[in-house]
Amino acid sequence: MANVTAAELSMGHLALHYGTAEEGPAASRLLQELGLKETQVLPLPNGNFYRFVVNAGHFSRGDGIVYLSALPEPQAKLIAAIHAALRVGTDHEDDAVTGYRAMMASDFEASFHFGFLVDSLEELEGIVLRLRDLNATDPLLKGRLNIGMNRARRGNAAVDARLDASPVFGSCSRYAYGSNGVQVFVETDLIRAGQLGENMYFELDYVFPGSDSHILSVVEL
Ligand SMILES: [Fe+2]
Repeated sequence: MANVTAAELSMGHLALHYGTAEEGPAASRLLQELGLKETQVLPLPNGNFYRFVVNAGHFSRGDGIVYLSALPEPQAKLIAAIHAALRVGTDHEDDAVTGYRAMMASDFEASFHFGFLVDSLEELEGIVLRLRDLNATDPLLKGRLNIGMNRARRGNAAVDARLDASPVFGSCSRYAYGSNGVQVFVETDLIRAGQLGENMYFELDYVFPGSDSHILSVVEL
C-alpha cells in the first residue's frame, strides 16, 4: 500500500498503567531495571505519574517515551466486570480464559507486548541475572516477575558458540523465529495491560552485528 505522504515517523510514546497507588514505586523500579531512564515523577491523588525515556538521547524529545500512571477508575471497573463475568482467578475460569492463558504460557509474544532493543549482549545478560535475583529477594519485586527467553536459531557457528557459553542463554531450549538475535521476556503483574488487564509482557532483544537477516528483520517459520 503506497504512502500518501512522505512523513518520517519515529516511535513516540507508550502509556502504561499500574494497579494501585501503592504499586507505583515498584512499577517504576521495574522499568528502570529494564533500562529505562526516569525523567519525571509527578505526585497525583490516585498515584504517581511517571515519564521515562529509552535512552539519554531522548530526554527532551517527543519520542522514545514511556508514561506510567495508575489505572483510571473506569478501566479498573471494566477489568473487574470482565473478571466477574468470566470467573477469572477462580478454579472454574471460562474456557476462553483457559485457552488464552495456555497460549500466553507457550508464547510470551502471542498477544500484546512491547519490545526494547539492547545494544550489548553482556548488558542484556546482566539485566536478566539481576531481574532473577530481584524476583527472588527484592522487597518490592519479589515474586512479581516471570522471565522467559528465546535464543537465536542455530546455524551461525560464532553465535551458537557465544550463546552456548552464556550464563543466561546456555541453558535456554527455546528458539526465536529467526537467526542472529535473542529475545528475553519479562511478564509482570506490576503493570496491568492485556486482554484480562492482569499483566504486561516486556521483551528485551539483542541482535548480533553484521547480519542483514536476524530475528527483527526477517520472521522465519
Ligand atoms: Fe515480540
